[in-house]
Amino acid sequence: VGPRGSLVIALLGGIYWPASRDRVEMCKLAGKNVNLECANFVRALHNFNRTHVYACGTGAFHPNCAFIEVTGNRDGVFQLLSGTVESGRLKCPFDPLQPFTSVLADQYLYAGTSSDFLGKDTTFTRSLGPPPDQHYIRTDISEDYWINEARFISAHPIADTYNPDDDKIYFFFREVSWEGNDKSILSRVARVCKNDVGGLRSLTNKWTTFLKARLVCSIPGPDGVDTHFDELQDIFLLPTRDDKNPVVYAVFTTSSSIFRGSAVCVYSMADIRAAFNGPYAHKEGPDHRWVEYEGRIPYPRPGTCPSKTYDPKIKTTKDFPDEVVSFIRFHPLMYRSVYPLTGRPVFTRVRVDYVLTQIVVDRVLAEDGQYEVMFLGTDAGSVLKVVSITQENWSTEEVVLEELQIFQVL
Ligand SMILES: *[C@@H]1O[C@H](CO)[C@@H](O)[C@H](O)[C@H]1NC(C)=O
Ligand SMILES: *[C@@H]1O[C@H](CO)[C@@H](O)[C@H](O)[C@H]1NC(C)=O
Repeated sequence: VGPRGSLVIALLGGIYWPASRDRVEMCKLAGKNVNLECANFVRALHNFNRTHVYACGTGAFHPNCAFIEVTGNRDGVFQLLSGTVESGRLKCPFDPLQPFTSVLADQYLYAGTSSDFLGKDTTFTRSLGPPPDQHYIRTDISEDYWINEARFISAHPIADTYNPDDDKIYFFFREVSWEGNDKSILSRVARVCKNDVGGLRSLTNKWTTFLKARLVCSIPGPDGVDTHFDELQDIFLLPTRDDKNPVVYAVFTTSSSIFRGSAVCVYSMADIRAAFNGPYAHKEGPDHRWVEYEGRIPYPRPGTCPSKTYDPKIKTTKDFPDEVVSFIRFHPLMYRSVYPLTGRPVFTRVRVDYVLTQIVVDRVLAEDGQYEVMFLGTDAGSVLKVVSITQENWSTEEVVLEELQIFQVL
């Protein structure tokens, strides 16, 4: 399953956790590849506490999850606790190759995944957590406004203020959208409150604080038409001294089959928050376009986390007035998009025979100061080591320091 998958398998060395024989048979009958699809590919592996790891695998298109006990300090002995094996639906994709993300925070598992065999229904969920409240929370499925044929890239717990009630999970994905006149793929940043427990009457066990905004990464073209890099491929958060404000690095590719290209755009959390604090988008009906919502906004502002500090009457999301919950059902999209810090990509690669797929960024101290060095993985198995120097006039100079062939392309 690529470099990350290989790491997972190495760590699990010694544990035998195959897909059941029945599931492998059914997977084969469904026309899937025996070796590449009909096995238990581990997709999620998280430290749950000091002694337990939580793992999920695709189980030959029948996902399952389980706890692994780790004993011994240095030469950890791993034991899969067969009594804890449970369904991995809504936690792990069925398909080993489908983009997927998960993060464990405070013993809750957050996952951006498909929830069915065909990979059509895609959703952002929360599960696990300390007993007794171990029910699922997920995005609403009744409206395609929420999340539509998404490919999830990453999810991150990030505090928004000094009040822990405001803590959120930010996540990134691309999805099929009808925002223009045609169907197209667009990239998103979205968020939910960590303390969201779902609604009371409507949106029961669904997020009531879900909001999303478009991430734009484009360059102006010679004829005045911008070239858009619309398909998000990877995200890296570069930490800063302030935990609330990591720098967001994103890799995108174009959707066009004629113009193949990739770009790296950099965003600030301040700009992302500004989009969520701005106007909501509104769609009158299926045949209408998204416009800016100009009507009355209910109180508390949809997307705000409940907190006794703000309003003693609103302790949990179940205390939200009905109009707040029904507003968010139809207005999860923000009207304003998020634009990169420098207004344009810090690095682009166009008209080459590969695309960028992954990014890691490191701060390096050189004689003349500190540089943010980007390591960019490509679909051709190579890694580019790049610095992008921002000039005083906000134009950027790209310097490729090294290009290494790491993997052979199969
Ligand atoms: C870790 O979590 C597992 C699974 O819930 C539980 O059985 C175990 O007691 C926990 N261990 C500690 C040290 O809290
Ligand atoms: C920005 O400044 C650099 C040199 O500092 C110059 O080469 C470049 O042309 C300038 N770009 C614009 C758009 O003015």
